[in-house]
Amino acid sequence: MAEDSLFLEYRQLVKDIHFHNYRYHVLDDPLISDYEYDQMMKKLRGIEEQHPEWVKEDSPTRRAGDKPLDRFVKVRHPAPILSLANAFSGEDLRAWYERIVALDDRVQHSTFVMEPKIDGLTVVLHYENGIFVRGATRGDGEVGEDITENLRTVKAIPLHIPVEENGMHVPQRFVVRGEAFIFSKDFDALNQKLEEAGQKTYLNPRNTAAGSLRQLDPALTAARPLTVLTYAIVDSSEPTPETQWGTLNLLKALGFPVSSLNQQLDTIDEVVAQIPAWNERRDHIPFEVDGVVIKLNDLRVAAELGFVGKDPRGAIALKYPAREVTTVLKDIGVNVGRTGVLTPYAILDAVEIGGVVVKQATLHNFDFIKEKDIRIGDRILIKRAGDVIPYVIGPIKEVRTGAERIFTIPEVCPSCGQPTEHFEGEVAWFCVNSACPAQLVRNVEHFVSRGAMEIVGLGIKIVEQIIEAGLVKDVADLYTLTAADLLHLEGFAEKKAENLIEAIRVSKAQSLERLINALGIRGVGEVMATDLAGHYADMDELKSASETELMEIEGVGPNIAAAIVDWFSRPANQLVLEKLRKSGVWPKAQKEESSGPKVLMGYTFVITGTLPTLSRDEAKTLIEKNGGKTTDSVSKNTSFLVLGENAGSKLEKARTLGVRELSEADLYQLIQNSGKLV
Ligand code: IVH
Repeated sequence: MAEDSLFLEYRQLVKDIHFHNYRYHVLDDPLISDYEYDQMMKKLRGIEEQHPEWVKEDSPTRRAGDKPLDRFVKVRHPAPILSLANAFSGEDLRAWYERIVALDDRVQHSTFVMEPKIDGLTVVLHYENGIFVRGATRGDGEVGEDITENLRTVKAIPLHIPVEENGMHVPQRFVVRGEAFIFSKDFDALNQKLEEAGQKTYLNPRNTAAGSLRQLDPALTAARPLTVLTYAIVDSSEPTPETQWGTLNLLKALGFPVSSLNQQLDTIDEVVAQIPAWNERRDHIPFEVDGVVIKLNDLRVAAELGFVGKDPRGAIALKYPAREVTTVLKDIGVNVGRTGVLTPYAILDAVEIGGVVVKQATLHNFDFIKEKDIRIGDRILIKRAGDVIPYVIGPIKEVRTGAERIFTIPEVCPSCGQPTEHFEGEVAWFCVNSACPAQLVRNVEHFVSRGAMEIVGLGIKIVEQIIEAGLVKDVADLYTLTAADLLHLEGFAEKKAENLIEAIRVSKAQSLERLINALGIRGVGEVMATDLAGHYADMDELKSASETELMEIEGVGPNIAAAIVDWFSRPANQLVLEKLRKSGVWPKAQKEESSGPKVLMGYTFVITGTLPTLSRDEAKTLIEKNGGKTTDSVSKNTSFLVLGENAGSKLEKARTLGVRELSEADLYQLIQNSGKLV
């Protein structure tokens, strides 16, 4: 009996996690906090450990990445995965239209759909009885590679459909086509993380997505920020919509991610009239697009039009002009990052690319310069795509004059002049002088940032000012600043100075995990800092941890363990810690329960009945963690009754007293809304 109800609870949990995953990754509109999501996952893992026999292919835990494969198996697609012919102008589009009207006059009665042409990789997703069972690459259009386990780690791909109960009939066989890609901001963040860790950065989002999907180890794919947008039904055991617009709507209703940029238009004139708006939009789309796809909305007519080679006649890609130009590489500059990583960048003869003047571009790392044999004075090809920072593709060696110079990695830091270092097995070169001014600016900038000590009002300009004025020589000096010190700086009046000092003071109360993150230890970001704070009571304990001990913590590998030990062994850092301690910046680890803002402070809760996913104790913990109080009996002081199934006398009493009732979902919502009722 108890097993039965645990099983039901388990299935409900699977469903709820899928739902919240969908809210987050497909709709970009989460209903619960990351913490709550993690708690649900933790509970799910607990049940699965007890009952491995319950785990099915649609379990959210399978998104973490399965065992590595030896090789990919081939899969034949249920229907050819076609490509698209290209157009380059409005005239080309009209010519396409004239060609297909001449072949079939029903084209005249069809409307059109315009969709972004996502610069990613085609993926083919198979569902059987609503469960995701297989995913493949495009391959040659007939046969692709089975990358199911990798695709399972992509959270935007539903593991089962439909996500919401909507009375829809789920086809026994359903195969969907989409494009896998990486959002530009996620790509930049990934590269920044790699750069800070002294690892090789990726060249562009598309190659990264492609490389990630073709990993034999799904755990590696899981670590990359891949996502997907879908746009076609390849095969189904049920009749499918007769229009492209209907297809997009069906996909959306089933819980698949579908682009919100898709448009339906009545005539080819309207399509052509939209081109300038799509050109305009190009820079604001949060992922790389290489054009617009124009599709005949009537899919039967489109199918009957047939193909030319692998290109269907019923659709065409209007390609954006390539944003690649050549210019002269005047010099190679070197930036010093927060962790001391030296990063080369190209200083260019200013050049316009798609309406933007570009003077600098990413050169990735020193290995890249060597591998591509890029020389100062070379004519080089650069690309600006989407929101991604412009990057160098390579030199045009054919036009060399002989006057080009080979670049040498600086032996001293361009900012502080101290010798640079290179660690065995890493691509990056470092300035290891922690007093280096360039590093100090980046360090302080990181120390005060949102996920760290969050000192409001201390932006990069002020950071530069206080460092330049010699007021701050390490992060701990922030805590001995006075309003009088700041008044000497440009732009500071009394009020502003006092506000900043107050914000610095307030930050002394930040948690241990924030302080650990704030220190900027190589490889230790927000997530790692939280894990460390869960294992050590304070900085003293962390400071004395050995590499072996650190490596026992999940996620801490030898590199990170070594970086932590190295950080604490440096006298300059030890001094910073002592100064922080003296200033009262010495947080103690908090129990998980008491972290987070106290959004339920002042409310008293009574819980009654069986809640859908939380046990009584878990609901209590959730409330208390958020600052609320729980009691066992209803009184006039009760703010809320949290109500599950089979509630008894407490409900009656609450109703006579007019106490407000909440479901479990309402409780989450209340926390999400910072304790405000909506
Ligand atoms: S439709 C018959 N729609 O572009 C269906 N393709 O050069 C043909 N692509 O291989 C494809 N976004 O990988 C279609 N909204 C979209 C697309 C799209 C990107 C890719 C797809 C295809 C390539 C064609």
